[in-house]
Amino acid sequence: MPQRRLFVTTALPYANGSFHIGHIMEYIQADIWVRFQRMQGNEVHFVGADDAHGAPIMLKAEAEGITPEQLIKRIADERPRYLKGFHIQFDHWHSTHSDENTQLSQDIYRRLKAGGFIYSKTIEQFYDPVKGMFLADRYIKGECPNCGAKDQYGDACENCSSVYSPTDLKNAYSTLSGAKPVLKTSDHYFFRLSDPKCKDFLKEWLEKPGRLQPQVVNKAKEWLEGEGDKALADWDISRDAPYFGIPIPDAPGKYLYVWLDAPIGYLASLKAYCSKNNLDFERLLEDPTEQIHFIGKDIIYFHTLFWPAMLHFAGPPYRVPDHVYVHGFIGVSGEKMSKSRGTGIDPLRYLDIGMNPEWLRYYIAAKLNANVEDVDFNPDDFLARVNSDLIGKYVNIASRASGFLRKFFGGELKPDSSWIAEFGALETERDIREALEAREFGRAIRTAMAFADRVNQYFDAQQPWALAKKQETSYVRMDLLTACSNCIAAFNALTVWLAPIVPSTAEKARLFLGQDKPFAWDDWKIAPRQIEKYEHLMTRVDEKQLNALFDIPEPPAGAAPSPQRHAEHQQHETKKESTVSEHISIDDFSKIDLRVAKITRAEAVEGADKLVKLTLDLGGETRTVFAGVKSAYAPESLNGRLTVVVANLAPRRMRFGVSEGMVLAASGEGPGIFLIAPDSGALPGMRVK
Ligand code: MSP
Ligand code: ZN
Repeated sequence: MPQRRLFVTTALPYANGSFHIGHIMEYIQADIWVRFQRMQGNEVHFVGADDAHGAPIMLKAEAEGITPEQLIKRIADERPRYLKGFHIQFDHWHSTHSDENTQLSQDIYRRLKAGGFIYSKTIEQFYDPVKGMFLADRYIKGECPNCGAKDQYGDACENCSSVYSPTDLKNAYSTLSGAKPVLKTSDHYFFRLSDPKCKDFLKEWLEKPGRLQPQVVNKAKEWLEGEGDKALADWDISRDAPYFGIPIPDAPGKYLYVWLDAPIGYLASLKAYCSKNNLDFERLLEDPTEQIHFIGKDIIYFHTLFWPAMLHFAGPPYRVPDHVYVHGFIGVSGEKMSKSRGTGIDPLRYLDIGMNPEWLRYYIAAKLNANVEDVDFNPDDFLARVNSDLIGKYVNIASRASGFLRKFFGGELKPDSSWIAEFGALETERDIREALEAREFGRAIRTAMAFADRVNQYFDAQQPWALAKKQETSYVRMDLLTACSNCIAAFNALTVWLAPIVPSTAEKARLFLGQDKPFAWDDWKIAPRQIEKYEHLMTRVDEKQLNALFDIPEPPAGAAPSPQRHAEHQQHETKKESTVSEHISIDDFSKIDLRVAKITRAEAVEGADKLVKLTLDLGGETRTVFAGVKSAYAPESLNGRLTVVVANLAPRRMRFGVSEGMVLAASGEGPGIFLIAPDSGALPGMRVK
């Protein structure tokens, strides 16, 4: 009899782009928790889906000359590679652009309408007469009404920080067509979020002890209890055609705003999964099922106000979420990752260069706790963590103890259960279990590694290598057997505890441990009786791979390679450069902002044999550039020299820091790299054209 029934989701990613490391982190967090719950014997239904609707997807498809359906299909087709690659086990992956979602969204809409929670109102909004569509604020730019700065967005000025509405902009234009937007009226549908009934309900929902993290409750209550112009407003839930979305029943030309149908996609995915597996969807939603959403901190508003309100006032079988678990954002080496640019680590590249997905799972787990805290991926820390913990502590136990057992005892074990007290296994188990349950993964790992340390110390103290040499007496032989068996029993326990985090390593270990069925949590205390030959469980993180992950093939001369996809890059590299390239126009050329730069400092980069770190003066502006010229120049010889830099190349994160441009150098088939220098008299900052 399962103790709990859980319906678990992660946020539904927009279907207009590939997964980035932020998505993968969220899935890893949820997947670890789900695997842990399953090992506890709980029944879990874990689903995801693509969030396919909305104007950005419609416009992106249009720009590519394809239909939105084609765009979202292309993205959907990529998903399994990432999910399988990082061992993320959703039971089902669906799409919000589906029959199930249309039916559920329209049903919820109708119920809200019948309950008096929807009304319509005429509003005035900017309209692009060329495109023939209403414009969301992000598609309108113009001059700031306060300071006159050009090209400011419709809501706030980046120059003077004043806040206004798009109608206040001077010389406003549509970013879609450049046309001057006109004000036009339209009927919109609103959800009565500000209704006292709704606010009362939300207050109660938010305050239920244990439902949400305290930081999340505070944030949501700020919005809920805002006053004056910060007061909670009704929610505009309709959009006019053309829109890629779900039609509003009985309202021709009107569509549900994407944020209304997106969370309903959680239910649509569950429903599709139920049909596929002959489960009763409505019964599955009922008590005692717990409905749990894992999300990032940027979408708290939608999940703690709109979503529970919609579900509650739609009524049964819909139920409000039991928990919304919020995580922070992952950045790389202290730098924020932009959602749109998606820089940082490319998850597919990570897999393609043969890095072990379980290293990333382990590292991310080590950094996660139950708070809404940002996580930093630091390459050096990653390498040290994985190598010292997973290999140096955990795997080490098996590789050390197994040799003696196979060599002298045919792999047969005789643990004497003293290991439980010897290593403090009971306390360790309790702490790890509680930590995993509470999403305190970092703590779980610290506790597990402290346990591994004790086991390794015990092994050292027993000196099995010495015992092995004087086995002539039977009790020495017995001591050797017991010592090694105890270590393997402890290794078995650790394997079970770490299995939610590193599932495929645990699976390999399970075969070595001679356990014939998948691990359940309680198997930690069942010491193995017979082990198989020890095969390497995991390799160490290699510095070279990490370099490859960040440097995107080190180019022969110039420093920062373009931020293109690595696949394209490799093609460029293999192309022979002996013939001169195709014509470009003068406009193409003038896009490249070349500047004279003075090298004010040049240093070697530790761990990179080809790179020199240059500090450049561009006539008042200082830049850092990594240049692949170490084979030709001693760093100190570059101090004070003038060279030419591509000044408008997008900054690129490399393993050693951000490179903010590229210095020009010549190279040919033979050896040698030759830095380009201007004639004397040129000054830093001068444009090269
Ligand atoms: N489509 C909406 C969610 C709809 S849920 C009904 C959306 N999509 S998203 O693709 O932009 O983000 C999906 C999830 O990834 C969100 O939980 C978001 O917080 C998370 N992350 C996006 N960037 C992230 C990081 N840099 N780090 C960690 N998580 C991040 O929002
Ligand atoms: Zn301004």
